[in-house]
Amino acid sequence: MENRKAIKTAIGKIILMGEHAVVYGEPSIAIPFPEVRIKTTIYQSRGPVILDCCYYKGLLLKGPKIVSGLIEVIRKVTESFNERLENFNIHIDSTIPPERGMGSSAAVAISTIRALYEYFNRPLTEDQLLKWANVSEKIVHGNPSGIDAAVVGGEKTLYYKKGMPFVPFKFNLDAYLVVGDTGRKGQTRAAVEGVRQFIESKPNEGMELIKELGNLTRLARKSIEDKDAEKLGQAMFKAHIILDKLGVSDGKLNFLVSKALDCGALGAKLTGGGRGGCMIALVEDIKGANYISNCLLKYGAQNTWISKLGDGLVE
Ligand code: MEV
Repeated sequence: MENRKAIKTAIGKIILMGEHAVVYGEPSIAIPFPEVRIKTTIYQSRGPVILDCCYYKGLLLKGPKIVSGLIEVIRKVTESFNERLENFNIHIDSTIPPERGMGSSAAVAISTIRALYEYFNRPLTEDQLLKWANVSEKIVHGNPSGIDAAVVGGEKTLYYKKGMPFVPFKFNLDAYLVVGDTGRKGQTRAAVEGVRQFIESKPNEGMELIKELGNLTRLARKSIEDKDAEKLGQAMFKAHIILDKLGVSDGKLNFLVSKALDCGALGAKLTGGGRGGCMIALVEDIKGANYISNCLLKYGAQNTWISKLGDGLVE
């Protein structure tokens, strides 16, 4: 038997500014995060498709709710090729901690879509990739802005506004980002729903907070263009306070954010959906970044990553 095989990958993402507000049309800034990634391998087999990933190993079509977005996208992509869901298996490896706001759901979908197109020998455009990724994101997140799929699929730093053309921009600010994992699963879907309920019950206050987040993202963009790391750090922490008011932070995120600031970070905030997941801290140099990373680990972060901004994270 001929042994067909396709292997494709996708990287993680970090939202620097604008999470949640981006769902309401405000801008956000997100950066690709190649320090973590997903690898999908599709290989020839016999019989119905078996999915093997960190959540589930078994018949694809019998998979649990947590992989329902992925199953749907695999089903639809295969159907669009007029192929049947048989005679191949899908294996997924990941170094992206799941449900931590680092784009694991978008990355799983994107690496798998890429692998399906390769396996069935079809050309894949960026627009198709995003369209399919958002099929899965809608099931996982309910009402996604599209930022996760856009940055994970495009692998470019983006200044993103829902419904507008993507604006890649150069992150030429010389600084470091330390990412701290609370070790607790984030709840993007619940957090997005929580913000919706906040706005529904207190429309004036809610939309005021969303607008403030938008203004802080605009300020952050200007600070990056002016190479002003201190101003960017201040905007980040202000955004964290507003996200907390909107109910998307939690005790451990607040604790790690305050410890990062105590240890000398220029700014810190939660990143992504919140209610668990990860926080980020902005630091001027590598010595400081190592110090903040150790400080976060000492105060209970389960894991940390250091990334140089303006280097590998640019257009
Ligand atoms: C999740 O990474 C980012 C959120 O803004 C949701 C979205 O934009 O779809 C919380």
